[in-house]
Amino acid sequence: MLNVQSRVVEDWDYRTANTKEFTHGIHPYPAMMIPQVARRLIDEYGSGGGILLDPYCGTGTTLLEGMLANFYAIGTDLNPLARLIARTKTAPIDLDLLDREIKDFSEFGLVTAGLRDGQTDHPNIPNIDYWFSENVQRELGLIRSHIDWIESAQIADFFKVAFSLTVRKVSWTKNSEFKLVRMAPERIEDHDPDVFSTMVDVLKDNRRAFASLDHALGDEPTIPAVYGFNSVVEIPQETITPGSVDIVVTSPPYGDSKTTVAYGQFSRLSSQWLGHDNANQVDNSLMGGGKLSDEVRFGFEELDEVIGEVADTDPRRAGEVASFFFDYRNSICNVADAVRPGGFACYVVGNRTVKGYQIPTAESTAAFFEMSGFEHVETFHRNIPNKRMPSMNSPTNVPGKLGKTMKSEFIVVNRKTV
Ligand SMILES: C[S@@+](CC[C@H](N)C(=O)[O-])C[C@H]1O[C@@H](n2cnc3c(N)ncnc32)[C@H](O)[C@@H]1O
Repeated sequence: MLNVQSRVVEDWDYRTANTKEFTHGIHPYPAMMIPQVARRLIDEYGSGGGILLDPYCGTGTTLLEGMLANFYAIGTDLNPLARLIARTKTAPIDLDLLDREIKDFSEFGLVTAGLRDGQTDHPNIPNIDYWFSENVQRELGLIRSHIDWIESAQIADFFKVAFSLTVRKVSWTKNSEFKLVRMAPERIEDHDPDVFSTMVDVLKDNRRAFASLDHALGDEPTIPAVYGFNSVVEIPQETITPGSVDIVVTSPPYGDSKTTVAYGQFSRLSSQWLGHDNANQVDNSLMGGGKLSDEVRFGFEELDEVIGEVADTDPRRAGEVASFFFDYRNSICNVADAVRPGGFACYVVGNRTVKGYQIPTAESTAAFFEMSGFEHVETFHRNIPNKRMPSMNSPTNVPGKLGKTMKSEFIVVNRKTV
């Protein structure tokens, strides 16, 4: 019998913890996992080493914690910017070489890039003048050209991550929002950033983060592998042998990107400057991006009932919820196949509200795992003191009418029995 009661455990809150330790803070991202939560799950449910999987790895919080705990960590994410950050964050770097490159850039960066290229290379960003002043575009173009000349791929990645954050800071986007929203006109008038020194500051901050990681890592750390496969469609067997994963620690999306967290919108301008393919299509490809009818049934009564209730007032919204859970269930099936008997799957999820109904995502997670040969071990309930996440959204989809969404989340722990 499925027991999905959750236990409120306040010491999972980590109210005052430093969530930016090591390289965790080199670049912001929506709905990042708290490193302390990943660390504790790995510590309590991992068996000291082996294979760790994060099928929604985002910027690699779990991967870094897995590496620090001597696991071979494997992650996948469909968002190319998240993959760049995850890969960079978890790769130890030659600090002497990095120092030389930062010095080179600080002293001659824009001049040499300008001399080499004569003119700057502008990426193909529709509406570029809406987001960046002409001067900012010119300087970003020069920095981008400079990065292309860096020989070491790892140092180039380090610069790309700093560049991405610089793009965010010097653009006319509201940095306090994860969605792509332009600043108010009066703020735009006052926003005259020095692009070059913004980049230098980020490089120096991030360099300090890598020095602290260097101290924490052993002599021969196992570098995580970061892939771009769609965990809803498959976990390729040539990448992860079925039944080989010891522990899964992940925070999946809790709804489709359009109505919850827009990971693609957050990343779009940086990705376009970096030349990532289909940078403006990311949100459509993420979990729940397709369309489905609200008629779908999941075999978990609590979820089926809530979708039915939403459908009574808004069948389209119910279809969106169903579409998300259809993908979510498929991805759990794929993940379940990858885990070894006795291995654990720990999912950090939120129960959002749609049309005034709370969607039982935590309970559905336990139920879907149970349908895939797992038993539910425990669900912890934690408050979210410092996870960056919109605390209000528009679940009714009426512009201006806000409803409360999650201020707490659930940590659902399951163990494979067969
Ligand atoms: C909550 S975020 C993960 C954040 C991560 N724990 C961190 O600390 O940065 C969820 C991630 O799932 C990714 N995602 C959504 N659908 C996906 C899919 N079908 N396959 C792989 N990744 C997907 C999104 O791009 C997003 O980065």
